[in-house]
Amino acid sequence: MKVLIVGGGGREHAIAASVAGSKRADKIYCAPGNAGIGQIAECVPIGAMEFDKIVAFAKEKEIDLTIVGPDDPLVGGLTDELEAAGLRVFGPRKNAAILEGSKAFSKDLMKKYHIPTAAYETFDEPQEALAYLKTAKMPVVLKADGLALGKGVLICNTLEEAAAGVKTIMEDKKFGAAGNRMVVEEFMTGREVSVLSFVDGRTIRIMSSAQDHKRALDGNQGLNTGGMGTFSPSPFYTKEVDAFCQEHIYQATVDAMAAEGRPFQGIIFFGLMLTENGPRVLEYNARFGDPEAQVVLPRMKNDILDVIDACIDGTLDKVELQFEDNAAVCVILASEGYPLSYEKGFSVRGLERFEKADGYYCFHAGTKRTEEGIVTNGGRVLGVTALGTTLQEARANAYAAAGWVDFDNKYMRKDIGKAIEEIEV
Ligand code: AMP
Ligand code: GLY
Repeated sequence: MKVLIVGGGGREHAIAASVAGSKRADKIYCAPGNAGIGQIAECVPIGAMEFDKIVAFAKEKEIDLTIVGPDDPLVGGLTDELEAAGLRVFGPRKNAAILEGSKAFSKDLMKKYHIPTAAYETFDEPQEALAYLKTAKMPVVLKADGLALGKGVLICNTLEEAAAGVKTIMEDKKFGAAGNRMVVEEFMTGREVSVLSFVDGRTIRIMSSAQDHKRALDGNQGLNTGGMGTFSPSPFYTKEVDAFCQEHIYQATVDAMAAEGRPFQGIIFFGLMLTENGPRVLEYNARFGDPEAQVVLPRMKNDILDVIDACIDGTLDKVELQFEDNAAVCVILASEGYPLSYEKGFSVRGLERFEKADGYYCFHAGTKRTEEGIVTNGGRVLGVTALGTTLQEARANAYAAAGWVDFDNKYMRKDIGKAIEEIEV
């Protein structure tokens, strides 16, 4: 079968690698892809938001299945456009991708269906938000309603900070139209866990858990990024946590979306916080996490195309997901300066070492092929994933492999997965 993957980051490389591992994939295209994806798929120079071109390409090449990776095209309705052209597509329609596209929507949904999450208020007017904040308990969390590359969340410790935050989001519009509306949320504390799932509209199947590291610097210091590294499974995602989430969160979310006339078909990513009072939903995403996909997919035993077919056909109840009884750690190699300003165009050396190394993956995030070879082309450049029988072993392997590749300006966190040292083994 002919598969088209939309997107061009590390997540899409991990998806493409899984698809390439399926016996059923005869030909893989990726729009726009990147230098690493280009080694297993044919990259086509079409951006993820160029819907007309994507639809025309999929028709012309008689694509059997399109998999949409990133949030922007999903929230913008690419699935609907492909479906309208009679094409088969994996990813939620616009009316379901709103689960990620609007924080106000997702909070209202959780409230209506009693899904555990932080208490909140929604505001359309900055003055009203300010009046409320004067009475609110600090710290408090401000969230731009719409998509903001994971950056539209401000944690404010004082009323002054909160007032500045309202200005940033609602008046200065730092996150654009995403800040036309704002959610003010109760501040919670606890460990964070990412749980990804396949959903067919009715049935949900949970993948192995993972944990991201969102801050740029060691010790969770510095600015928020798209994610500097991950590990899977999370040892903090215990049987008790799973039982609670199965009972109160996962199926409840799928049922809520169906009841609202917005059946969700695709990936739901549950961003959870394990608080003293039990697990709470921090956020939903309507897609694979990046770099969660880079540690979860290499551990999945199922043929990804079989699972995706079951999601589209509504037969996921017949599928059991299976994961290797091992662990994976992904360390992001970034350009020094990310997430602010950084230079790119530096040549990347040492990639060939991954070709023959079993259990090691080098997922490209921001790279480009030039006449001089592969060069850096983004803030997050590569995601080096390694497997191990334990998290400790996977972590040692990932850091060893992170040293195989080199480029000027290379930066990585040194403490990805360090939290697992706190766990008794
Ligand atoms: P979100 O995009 O909603 O997941 O928020 C990004 C990050 O902000 C999360 O991963 C948390 O670290 C933090 N965060 C979001 N909401 C809260 C909250 N209610 N309490 C504490 N931290 C939060
Ligand atoms: N790693 C977090 C995200 O993909 O949103």
